[in-house]
Amino acid sequence: MTFPVDHVRSLFPALNHPDRIYADNPAGTQVPATVAQAVADRMLGDYANLGGHFTTSQSCDTLYTQAHTRAATFLGAASGREVIIGPSMTALTFHMSRSICRDFQPGDEIVITRMEHEGNVGPWLQIAHDMGLVIRWVAFDPDSWRVEPEALAKQLTTRTRLVCLNHASNMTGSINDIAALSAVAKDAGALVFVDSVQYAPHLLPDVQALGCDFLVCSAYKFFGPHLGLLWGREDLMQSLHPYKGRCVSDDLPDRFESGTPQLELLAGLCATFDYFENLGTHLDHTGSARDLMQATYAASLEYEHGLTRDLIRGLTGIDGLTIYGITNPNRTHDRVPTVSLRVEGHTPSAIAATLAQQGIYVWHGHNYAYEPTRQLGLPEAEGVVRIGLSHYNTQDEVARIVTSVAEAVGA
Ligand SMILES: Cc1ncc(COP(=O)(O)O)c(C=O)c1O
Repeated sequence: MTFPVDHVRSLFPALNHPDRIYADNPAGTQVPATVAQAVADRMLGDYANLGGHFTTSQSCDTLYTQAHTRAATFLGAASGREVIIGPSMTALTFHMSRSICRDFQPGDEIVITRMEHEGNVGPWLQIAHDMGLVIRWVAFDPDSWRVEPEALAKQLTTRTRLVCLNHASNMTGSINDIAALSAVAKDAGALVFVDSVQYAPHLLPDVQALGCDFLVCSAYKFFGPHLGLLWGREDLMQSLHPYKGRCVSDDLPDRFESGTPQLELLAGLCATFDYFENLGTHLDHTGSARDLMQATYAASLEYEHGLTRDLIRGLTGIDGLTIYGITNPNRTHDRVPTVSLRVEGHTPSAIAATLAQQGIYVWHGHNYAYEPTRQLGLPEAEGVVRIGLSHYNTQDEVARIVTSVAEAVGA
């Protein structure tokens, strides 16, 4: 079945603006009406704190458990006990970095790749500074646009305690082979922390298959509310020492979720999972919640691959334009539909401003892909123009983007 993009678009009120093309998706997607409605319904309905004997509180307890269980299904995790939900990937990573590194010794090493978003760099640099840890860097390969296992292996030593990996780049769009990289890191006895923020909107994460210890993503990048999700292996999550108040439960996930959860956003998160499952049903699939999500993701990915090929084919025809990432149409499966570019003689901000005047929303700058920007030797502030597609974009929009970029640079 072809991807039902018209049906999908009808579910998103924000797409009811023919004058707008949302190509800013790597920074955050639009949401289906049902997600926004679920947030409002929770705030106007059963709205209380957790753990009381009264109905509104009990309803919030149920929601809290459901959100974690359903997030576990989405991530392929064993149970909701392995999932921590918080304000954002960055906030969760700062939070968990303190617990993960609590027993590390001065001189122990953390390996970070140059493909990372700053959310998987800053927290480790800070804790390394505080605890006297050593940071080692792994560059991505400028030909494959990925971090190669051999390059990672060269940075591992007997002191390596943690390896931080990027699943899909928010600049180049390339996807790392996390299973292969994790295997190398595990051989060296290191923990593996994976940033799946840009992978999860396009491919369904499966934490069991990746061989990592922790994985983070953000719901607002995949049609949900502003929440981050962190998965950690249960035995590990139980053995770490959380920073928490004395009377906070020592159970999972509570021990890592001090404070009152954003209950209305948990309702929005559940509606996001409904969206994926309902789309699976719409595509004529049956089965478990995960089966339905998988069906949605498979159809969406194939559709996005077509858009990506069209976009890259169109852009490569523009004189002086360089794409920073995989352009080979036979390697589309090694990337997500995030395409970063520069055009000789034109600043990324000028191109983005011209596109904005035509209702085409794209980002420019380093977009917190600070390390990739530096590895590529690009000007840090100007960075690139980043065109980021989603499964609600259309072929017609892609054609309009290409035409507008060409016009913006006078090609
Ligand atoms: C690859 C990647 N990692 C991490 C983040 C940070 O996510 P959050 O805004 O949830 O902290 C982003 C945000 O753009 C991202 O693209």
